[in-house]
Amino acid sequence: MTGAALEVLDLAKRYAGRAVVDCLSFSVRPGTVFALLGPNGAGKTTTVEICEGFRSADAGEVHVLGLPPRDRSLRSRVGVMPQSGGAYPGLRAREMLRLVASFAAHPLPPDELLDRLGLGEVADTAYRRLSGGQQQRLSLALAVVGRPELVFLDEPTAGLDPQARRATWELVEALRSDGVTVVLTTHLLDEAERLADDVVILDAGRVVAAGTVAELTASGAAGQLRFLAPAGLDLGALLADLPAGCSATESPAGHYLVEGAVDPRLLATVATWCADRGVLARDLRVQTRTLEDVFLELTGPEPRA
Ligand SMILES: Nc1ncnc2c1ncn2[C@@H]1O[C@H](COP(=O)(O)OP(=O)(O)OP(=O)(O)O)[C@@H](O)[C@H]1O
Ligand SMILES: [Mg+2]
Repeated sequence: MTGAALEVLDLAKRYAGRAVVDCLSFSVRPGTVFALLGPNGAGKTTTVEICEGFRSADAGEVHVLGLPPRDRSLRSRVGVMPQSGGAYPGLRAREMLRLVASFAAHPLPPDELLDRLGLGEVADTAYRRLSGGQQQRLSLALAVVGRPELVFLDEPTAGLDPQARRATWELVEALRSDGVTVVLTTHLLDEAERLADDVVILDAGRVVAAGTVAELTASGAAGQLRFLAPAGLDLGALLADLPAGCSATESPAGHYLVEGAVDPRLLATVATWCADRGVLARDLRVQTRTLEDVFLELTGPEPRA
């Protein structure tokens, strides 16, 4: 065993002869947040539901906390927030959360969790009368109330308003601080960028990129560095100090742009060059690739079926 919280090896799943997950391998380090990213239909939910034991694989291996996904002992150790549903429509929010908490040895306090997710005021409302975003947050609460070691969150913030989204992010960060492993799916790139230690980008059931967010956004980094300074600086002289492959332009007057592989040394070189001339570079800004740039490069601009 590798000690991974989740290990997926050469996973494959076909529907009607079509591979929706193909040769998929990744592993999730304990106590980290792992994001499975990909456009609609990429195979994220299929993969996660195989790991949760809700669907069977056609080929490959999955180890959840070192065990097969359907091992009964995992029920108390793994929390699941499905992409939709998963609750009893007639039960009130607080009732349902208390019920699920009662199955756990050391649950989180249900009322505190409701407050934290902004559900205090609807605690006595039946699930079916909650708004979509409230149902979603309750579903998250249900997944974590039992203090699982590993939680699967399938698009935890889809359809949430900004406040609820932030509360969800804070909860995920708190889980990680408590040593919980979180596996989430999303196509919100800022969400993955903010939360995830490791990311796998899936397209059509296959891995198209994997690594930390920093690794993915740095690879082949075409970056930009902008600053404001008095007009008419000698950019030829600046270029002479920069590594090959960089460009430097001024447009409009006093607005400078340096393009190239932006790294700490490049930033220092530009700042020193300005300092040597007694020039104060104002609004110095570095823009590197975002995960969104990487995602679109790898998965293409067209919407999926
Ligand atoms: N039970 C099923 N029967 C047939 N095809 C299915 C089934 N479940 C999923 N699929 C197909 O498998 C592909 C992957 O679906 P999946 O739900 O895993 O995608 P996803 O990445 O979660 O997408 P989304 O971002 O829209 O949630 C889709 O093309 C879908 O139509
Ligand atoms: Mg899905």
